[in-house]
Amino acid sequence: MASRTIQMTDRLYDYLRKVSLREPRLLAELRAETAKLPLSVMQISPEQGQFMALLAELIGARRAIEVGTFTGYSALCVALALPADGKLITCDVSEEFTSVARRYWARAGVDGRIELRLAPAVDTLQGLIDGGGACSFDLAFIDADKKEYDDYYERILKLLRSGGLMMIDNVLWSGAVADGRRRDADTVALRALNEKLSTDKRISLSMLPLGDGLTLARKR
Ligand SMILES: C[S@@+](CC[C@H](N)C(=O)[O-])C[C@H]1O[C@@H](n2cnc3c(N)ncnc32)[C@H](O)[C@@H]1O
Repeated sequence: MASRTIQMTDRLYDYLRKVSLREPRLLAELRAETAKLPLSVMQISPEQGQFMALLAELIGARRAIEVGTFTGYSALCVALALPADGKLITCDVSEEFTSVARRYWARAGVDGRIELRLAPAVDTLQGLIDGGGACSFDLAFIDADKKEYDDYYERILKLLRSGGLMMIDNVLWSGAVADGRRRDADTVALRALNEKLSTDKRISLSMLPLGDGLTLARKR
C-alpha cells in the first residue's frame, strides 16, 4: 500500500490540537455558543479555521468572499487574517444564524471588514459579477448548499483574480462520495464537482483530507 494520510485516532487528534491549535479566546467562545445549536456540526473545525487563516496570510489576501456564513466562525478566522483595510463579503440566507455571527465580529473588532449579504448566494455572486467584480477577489470559501456547489464554483472562478485561491468544504462528505450506493442529491452534486475539477485546466488543484475534505483550487 502506498503511503497515505495517517489514521487520526482520538489520542492523536488531541495531540495535534494540543501542539498546534492557537484558537483565540473569542473564537473558542463562538464555538462553545454554536455547540448548543442543533446544527452545530455545520461549523468548521478550529484547525481548519487556523489553516484557512494561514492561507489568507500566505497569499496576502485583501478581498475575500464566503458562501455559507452560519454563526460566523470561518468568516471570523479569515477576517482576522486580512489587513485592516481588507474586506470579506459573506453570503447566507439565515437571519437567525448570522445574528450570532454579527455579535462576535463586533466583539472581535472586525465587523468593519465583513459585509454580510443575506440572499441566495448564487444571486449575490451573480450580482457581484454583473457589477464589475470579475477578477477582483483574492480568496474564496464555499460552504453552503451542496447541490449548488457547481453554480458557486463557476461564479467564483470569474470573481477570483488570476492566482486567487478557492477553498471548497465537505468534498469528501463523510466518505459518501466514494460509495456508489449513495445517490442522494448532495452526494451526487459533490461527486460530479470533484470529478469535474480533477481535469479542469483553469485551476491548479489539491484535495486535502482535512475536516470533511477541503479542496484548494488556484485560478490559473
Ligand atoms: C455549513 S454552514 C456554514 C458554516 C460556516 N462556514 C462556519 O464555519 O461556521 C452552511 C450555511 O449556508 C447557508 N445556506 C444554505 N443555502 C444557502 C444559499 N442558497 N445561499 C446562501 N446561504 C445558504 C445556511 O443558512 C448555513 O448557514
